[in-house]
Amino acid sequence: MKVSNLYICSNCAYENSKWLGKCPSCGMWNTMQEEIRAAQPTQTARRRVEAVSLQDIPLNEVRRTGSGIGELDRVLGGGTVPGSVILLGGNPGIGKSTLLLQVAQSIARQGEPVLYLCGEESLQQIRLRAIRLGVDSPGIFLAAEQNLEFLAEYIEKIKPTNVIIDSIQAVYCSEVSSIPGSVAQLRECTARITEIAKSSGITFFLIGHVTKEGVIAGPKVLEHMVDVVLSFEGEKSFSFRMLRGAKNRFGSTDEVGLLEMGPVGLSEVLDPASIFLSAETALTSGTAITTSVEGSRPLLIEVQALVSASGPNYPKRMAAGIDQNRLALIAAVLEKRLGFHLSACDVFLKIAGGVFLRDPSVDFGIAAAIISSHLDEVIPAGTVFIGELGLSGQIRPVTCLELRLKEIAKMGYSRVVVPKQGRLPAMADLNCIEVQTIDEILELIREG
Ligand SMILES: Nc1ncnc2c1ncn2[C@@H]1O[C@H](COP(=O)(O)OP(=O)(O)OP(=O)(O)O)[C@@H](O)[C@H]1O
Ligand SMILES: [Mg+2]
Repeated sequence: MKVSNLYICSNCAYENSKWLGKCPSCGMWNTMQEEIRAAQPTQTARRRVEAVSLQDIPLNEVRRTGSGIGELDRVLGGGTVPGSVILLGGNPGIGKSTLLLQVAQSIARQGEPVLYLCGEESLQQIRLRAIRLGVDSPGIFLAAEQNLEFLAEYIEKIKPTNVIIDSIQAVYCSEVSSIPGSVAQLRECTARITEIAKSSGITFFLIGHVTKEGVIAGPKVLEHMVDVVLSFEGEKSFSFRMLRGAKNRFGSTDEVGLLEMGPVGLSEVLDPASIFLSAETALTSGTAITTSVEGSRPLLIEVQALVSASGPNYPKRMAAGIDQNRLALIAAVLEKRLGFHLSACDVFLKIAGGVFLRDPSVDFGIAAAIISSHLDEVIPAGTVFIGELGLSGQIRPVTCLELRLKEIAKMGYSRVVVPKQGRLPAMADLNCIEVQTIDEILELIREG
């Protein structure tokens, strides 16, 4: 069969017959990859599909099935929808296979067969993991197969309601001549899986590798093709993992799931409010407490900062748990508004527990930790800081203030410094101090 050369952008899947240094579609450099394709057979004439009125489309109630892991169901919006394709991405070793093996166990225990296609590990490896996790259901069927052409045969024989593909980068279709994981393979394999899912009502879980930037490896079109995109986040050196929804065609992406990795697998975190506070409450300078609302749950977060003279070197800004640029911005605001000479200092920042925070209301806590370290003054015990930091040094209002205050009071803190944002809910035992600008914090720290 005639073959044709094609160059596809690994970022946006733009196709071109010639190689280009820069993709004209997304503007990325060096992303055009060569794909050699067999010429497509001429299409046979298809029957025209009749257009129907919106009102005439029969309404089937969306039936959700519990995955057996409450935190996963929370992120999915109450469970999986039959016929959906769920892409789960995460760093190597974060626990993707572990999570889906546990999901397989709970689905199989409900009497529904699950097919697990393992393209990356041997059956022996999966069996060993299953023994460690206590996964023993005879309703889980494994196949160490990478060729997707056999998928239909397995489905025909096993009749699963759920199929797990570990991973989408490891499987291939032999009609596409490029290697597994290439743009053309990923597109073809995902298209086939989506077709099977929609026609059979089988739910597919696809494990996806991520690039070093943390995005799912492959073209963005892969994320467009599936129904749900989840990311599994966390630091391997910490046991807590966060499950976030990046896209969900059947629900919101506002919720997050919290899980803890242990020797027998992942378990749900039932009371997550204080898991990111360190065990010992030693009062040292550079430590501040703040809150972050993840999904609908407020978490108390410990921020640790270290400000030290950078000497003749270029001043460093290093952050773990927040975006580096955000740390640079907060340090610049403190320099400008408080007159701190931070441009001669290295600033290191760490969020305890290995969690990555995007909630802007933690800015004030970060600023408080940096100020405390710079002045070498300990923040009075029992104080929590909430607020977004504006570029001119104002402490800006935050969302879900009442929810945060209730959690702070429940955790036994006595004082909270909040932005001025209308009437505060009355909280017994909680002294709420309202501030408008960052310089008001200096007095609070100094008065002790
Ligand atoms: N005996 C053990 N006790 C505790 N945790 C373990 C044990 N063995 C493995 N783990 C945890 O499981 C993780 C590996 O899980 P898993 O293989 O599911 O990850 P993955 O995301 O599928 O990785 P990959 O990208 O390599 O496929 C390890 O990083 C470790 O955190
Ligand atoms: Mg794995």
